[in-house]
Amino acid sequence: MRFSRIIGTGSHLPGVPITNDDLVARGIETSDEWIRTRTGIAARHFAAEGEMASDLALIAARHALERADCRPDDIDLLVLATSTPDYVFPSTATLLQAKLGMTNRAPAFDVQAVCSGFVYALALADKFLRLGEARRALVVGAEVFSRILDWNDRSTCVLFGDGAGAIVLEADELPGILATRLHADGRHHAELWVPGQVGAGKVQGDPFVRMEGQAVFKFAVQVLAEVAHEVLDLAKLPVESLDWLIPHQANVRILQATAKRLGLPPERVISTVDRHGNTSAASIPLALDVGIAEGKVRPGQTLLLEGIGGGFTWGAALLRY
Ligand code: ACO
Repeated sequence: MRFSRIIGTGSHLPGVPITNDDLVARGIETSDEWIRTRTGIAARHFAAEGEMASDLALIAARHALERADCRPDDIDLLVLATSTPDYVFPSTATLLQAKLGMTNRAPAFDVQAVCSGFVYALALADKFLRLGEARRALVVGAEVFSRILDWNDRSTCVLFGDGAGAIVLEADELPGILATRLHADGRHHAELWVPGQVGAGKVQGDPFVRMEGQAVFKFAVQVLAEVAHEVLDLAKLPVESLDWLIPHQANVRILQATAKRLGLPPERVISTVDRHGNTSAASIPLALDVGIAEGKVRPGQTLLLEGIGGGFTWGAALLRY
């Protein structure tokens, strides 16, 4: 039996923390109190002008490769999750491949599942490794959501931040990833979307994130609990076996409500949303890397990674770290 397991993690946040008061100072009609009580967010990071998803991904990937004791050409699969790619094409994965100096012609492609992107990418990479199609995969989530925020829409622009997280997965006789489960329901696409298109030489329509906040909230709490049970059932493990729940970091109230539904104490949830805001596909690997750096996540522990994003898409991965 062949499995895949994480052998290195890395992350990167651009620039300095931008506090809620900094947003007020920039002219956004909001307050630290409103943002903290509704979302738990105290600060986020924004990329500098001209800094792209592949630039953030590069730093996160280098850290992950270093911790995995790998050279770029040891990687034979590169999957990158983003909804804010550098260009319409080619994929940000191929740009990252070039920036890393990879010349071994390993397949590289993007996954677009918005905030579930990292779980989608991880599940895909796991399948490649299990099937013997690759031995070492670099899986990255990288976003510059600041580029698609409408600074005149206070109900969305205060929620998001930029960043990147990466892991190296290696094929192994021992797990590793125990179970993954992915879902989507496209009927909800207009509840969280950027409804613009590139055409006729410019962006047609609306280039900014639009969201029905309360609808997203309700759906998120319901499906995050459901999919967590699905992967636990697949691996035949009880909720009590979880050392850490590492959910997509959208909102502290979603995190708490999900833990409550699962019957997990809030102390067993890794939460970075206070410092990072919502970094979409980057949030889970960022939170994982912070959990490891802070000494919370340790080898041998059982982790549940899960996310939900536009589409809607959602999914979970249960693993032994
Ligand atoms: N500062 C101050 N006031 C604000 C702000 C702001 N930043 N944003 C909205 N308000 C006001 C509104 O104008 C409204 O005022 P009114 O009552 O005078 O009209 C009031 O606050 C309530 O607005 P709602 O939109 O109803 O606020 P709600 O309580 O639903 O909170 C929030 C909004 C935080 C977005 C909430 O719906 C939520 O947490 N949703 C989850 C969605 C989420 O986290 N999405 C992230 C992306 S999706 C994902 O990653 C899964």
